[in-house]
Amino acid sequence: MAKVYIQRNFNSASASYDAVASIQKKCATQLVGCLKKHFPTCHPDTILDLGTGTGYIPEILLYAFPESKFTLNDLSFNMLDKAKKKLPSKRVSYILGDMEVQDFDFHDLIISNLALQWVDDLYRTIRKFYEKSGFFAFSCLLDGTFSEWSKIFIDASLTTPIHRYPSRPALEHYIGSLEPSKYFCDVCAFDVVFSSAADFMRYLKALGANYSHQHITIADLKRIINMYRDKIKVTYKVFFCILSR
Ligand SMILES: C[S@@+](CC[C@H](N)C(=O)[O-])C[C@H]1O[C@@H](n2cnc3c(N)ncnc32)[C@H](O)[C@@H]1O
Repeated sequence: MAKVYIQRNFNSASASYDAVASIQKKCATQLVGCLKKHFPTCHPDTILDLGTGTGYIPEILLYAFPESKFTLNDLSFNMLDKAKKKLPSKRVSYILGDMEVQDFDFHDLIISNLALQWVDDLYRTIRKFYEKSGFFAFSCLLDGTFSEWSKIFIDASLTTPIHRYPSRPALEHYIGSLEPSKYFCDVCAFDVVFSSAADFMRYLKALGANYSHQHITIADLKRIINMYRDKIKVTYKVFFCILSR
């Protein structure tokens, strides 16, 4: 059920995403940088990007790997359409669908930037794509992400609308259990400042990241907007990971 809302929100955000997604762009550059630095032998013929959005990963990799063939996947038709318009390349094909249920061929490199936090079963998804690739590189959000936003709700005695993201030790433990021949993990924090609570809510909507498992009433949202009219800082905690088989 949640997937319908996640898909709807990203469809609605396809036109606004590029104007607000500076952290996502930074993370795409960082993920590819880690791959090149720590896995210099990775020269993939075939690359699959999961949850490609408007195409930040292929924008970088089309130049880094000029001979490779790309498959771009997304749950959102509008996001994929936006990527298609940006990347008019004969080397790119597209698969619209939910990465958790879609059956993909083996790819030399599977990559995913800031999309895995939207799946229902993160560990099963990591295993699935590790087993379908020579190299699997991904970034996803960690616990502590937007903790400042959670605190605002806790202080107002409301249920926090933030996802329960995994912890670094839990993720690293799981990745170790897959027994990759080599792996690299890192965590980075990115701060973003907003002029008010309302500004942060507009940002989430423009990103398409406004789905919450917790139902929040309009009255409670208005209460938060009225209470927090000053600057707020929120922090992304991002896990970067690359596994090779
Ligand atoms: C935060 S955006 C990141 C987009 C892109 N990777 C980037 O670096 O900008 C997350 C993307 O994942 C897609 N997505 C979410 N759940 C998905 C799923 N189950 N299968 C495929 N794509 C999914 C969304 O539609 C959205 O385009």
